[in-house]
Amino acid sequence: MRLIREIREMQTASRAARRQGLTIGFVPTMGALHEGHMSLVRRAHADANLVVVSIFVNPLQFGPSEDFTKYPRTLEADCSRLEAEGVEIVFAPSSTQMYPAGATTVVHVEGLSEKLDGLSRPGHFRGVSTVVAKLFHIVQPDIAVFGQKDAAQVAVLRRMVRDLNMDVQLIIAPIMREADGLALSSRNAFLTAEQRRQALVLHRALMHLETVANSGETRAEQLRSAALSVLASEPAAKLDYFTIVDPDTLEPVDDVAQGALAAVAAEFGTTRLIDNILLPGRHN
Ligand code: PAJ
Repeated sequence: MRLIREIREMQTASRAARRQGLTIGFVPTMGALHEGHMSLVRRAHADANLVVVSIFVNPLQFGPSEDFTKYPRTLEADCSRLEAEGVEIVFAPSSTQMYPAGATTVVHVEGLSEKLDGLSRPGHFRGVSTVVAKLFHIVQPDIAVFGQKDAAQVAVLRRMVRDLNMDVQLIIAPIMREADGLALSSRNAFLTAEQRRQALVLHRALMHLETVANSGETRAEQLRSAALSVLASEPAAKLDYFTIVDPDTLEPVDDVAQGALAAVAAEFGTTRLIDNILLPGRHN
């Protein structure tokens, strides 16, 4: 496995691989890797002969009062894990490589970026779309794999790729969970044992919503109330949003018969967690 730190070197490696006719699969991450990330790596290997994983804690997507400085950084352990998985290249640039003084160009997916997490984290998705656009230019992947865990991020990036005609196929992989249902997240490391137990309410609320939907309820307001009643049973959860939206436009829907995304964000102590479930459309 090759660890590349320089943008130029990454671009040269990608150009060489493409010339050899290899298909490049790309998994962008901020490191502190867990099984969720590894599932994306495996998905990339299924469709590509050379897999590049980037590890970059992107300062542009963190607000001034957010956890950029304390975000877990575990490069050595991450590299061992990726090597064992057979990853060909890890790209881990420095902040000054990615954002040299005077860098002012951004990619902003207007409208979508101000919904869901974008409402409570102003500038977050602008930072995500900007760094992912830059990484796509550097890595030149044929396919890129993202997790359904960050559902609003998926909507923003899909729109970016479409609007800017980027020549890359996005693959969205399902949410990986702990045995008890907690969605894997690098931020779970910040939870105390008690908060970790409290955080299970997110999955419980989504599961309850799914049960009610499976019983035939399609009205979004009824489904939302059902989920909110479960969330209310855990007073330690400081709810940011619970919403039922169209997964592409992130606009609220009144009825889920055509399919919908139910998404939740809440803080446990100072740790903000997100989770979601896709409700399939009903065909008949
Ligand atoms: P990060 O939070 O490190 O996540 C990297 C990728 O792993 C994302 O596509 C995310 O959706 C996916 N992922 C995280 N937890 C997952 C889980 N439990 N199951 C499946 N996939 C999961 O998302 C980012 O980094 C950044 O915003 C990034 C796209 C790298 C841009 O900086």
